[in-house]
Amino acid sequence: MNILILGSGGREHALAWAALQNPKCDKLIVAPGNAGIAQIADCADLDVENGGAVVSFAEQNSIDFVIVGPEAPLAAGVADRLRDAGLLVFGPSAAAAKLEASKSFTKEICAAANAPTAAYGHFTDAASAKAYVAAQGAPIVVKADGLAAGKGVIIAETVPEAEAAIDDMFGGAFGGAGAEVVIEEFMQGEEASFFVLCDGTDVLPIGTAQDHKRVGEGDTGPNTGGMGAYSPAPVLTDAIAQQALDEIIKPTMAEMARRGTPYQGVLYAGLMIENGQPRLVEYNVRFGDPECQALMMRLGAQAFDMMHACADGRLAETRVNWADDHAMTVVLAANGYPGAYRKGTAITGLDGMTEDSFQMMFHAGTTRKDGQFIATGGRVLNATARGATLQEARDRAYALADSVDWPDGFYRRDIGWRAL
Ligand code: AMP
Ligand code: GLY
Repeated sequence: MNILILGSGGREHALAWAALQNPKCDKLIVAPGNAGIAQIADCADLDVENGGAVVSFAEQNSIDFVIVGPEAPLAAGVADRLRDAGLLVFGPSAAAAKLEASKSFTKEICAAANAPTAAYGHFTDAASAKAYVAAQGAPIVVKADGLAAGKGVIIAETVPEAEAAIDDMFGGAFGGAGAEVVIEEFMQGEEASFFVLCDGTDVLPIGTAQDHKRVGEGDTGPNTGGMGAYSPAPVLTDAIAQQALDEIIKPTMAEMARRGTPYQGVLYAGLMIENGQPRLVEYNVRFGDPECQALMMRLGAQAFDMMHACADGRLAETRVNWADDHAMTVVLAANGYPGAYRKGTAITGLDGMTEDSFQMMFHAGTTRKDGQFIATGGRVLNATARGATLQEARDRAYALADSVDWPDGFYRRDIGWRAL
């Protein structure tokens, strides 16, 4: 089978790596890819948010199956265009991708599906948003409705902070994403991520994970895209995961189907667990990054079969072959991230490192210049490993991270502290 993966991050490197473990994969192209992906697959320069360009590229390269990594092409309708052209695609339609692209849409679906989530209000002007905050008090959570690259959520400790966030959003700080605002009850508890595949009808759980969103050790400092993750998430016990499936995920999928916009692809449910009860924080319509790196390390070749079966409407006959193992990924980021950081700094130690089915260095923001790896982004590398225990996975992942020589980068030393 000829496969095309869209995206350029650590998530897509991990998806490419898992696809290549599977003998069904004859040819793999990743667009646009990165320097790490280029070591295992062909990379192609392509505007992945341009549906017409992606369809032409897939046709020219005799692609049989397309896996869409990030949310932006999904929200832009690239999966729709590919399906219209008769191609097999893993990833939801633009209508179903609204579960990530619009927070008010998700809240409305949750209400219709009776799925437990935070109480909320939805506003299109600052005065009524502020009146709601005044009535509810703080802490309270202010969210830009649209896609804001993970930055559109403000957890306000005080009413003035919430008012400032409301002014920022309606003032255009998040562009069109902030033209509408959702204000939510602040939920206490421990957060975890639950990943399921859905083919429009059936739902298949494929793993749980927890990530570390804050930049600093002890989960302090500003939010990032994620500084590390591990799978499984001990807080998501089998019983709580089953409850989340029955009360939140399956009713959501049923409501999407009822509206004539069935969901097909991976659904990432961010859950808050308090006193053993799961509530929905958010949905994402893609794999988490860096959670995907840990998940792929655990699933290996079967991940490809599952995604293919999902795209093909065959999830009812698909089983996950669970191993009793753990995986961790540690993100190496540029000094200064998530604030301003330098680009173009040199990384050594990546050539010739031991990479196998127990440990992989997945690249996120690298390019190659004169034979040398160069950092091009904020989150740059993902040292990922698996083991019989989380401690073993952790030790392997950190040994891998430690073997990299990158004076302009840093990583947290305490990934997994809660679980260890
Ligand atoms: P989101 O983009 O909706 O995932 O929000 C980003 C992060 O903000 C989440 O992963 C949570 O850590 C936090 N968050 C969002 N909504 C709430 C809420 N209602 N209560 C507590 N924390 C929240
Ligand atoms: N690691 C969080 C996310 O991918 O949204």
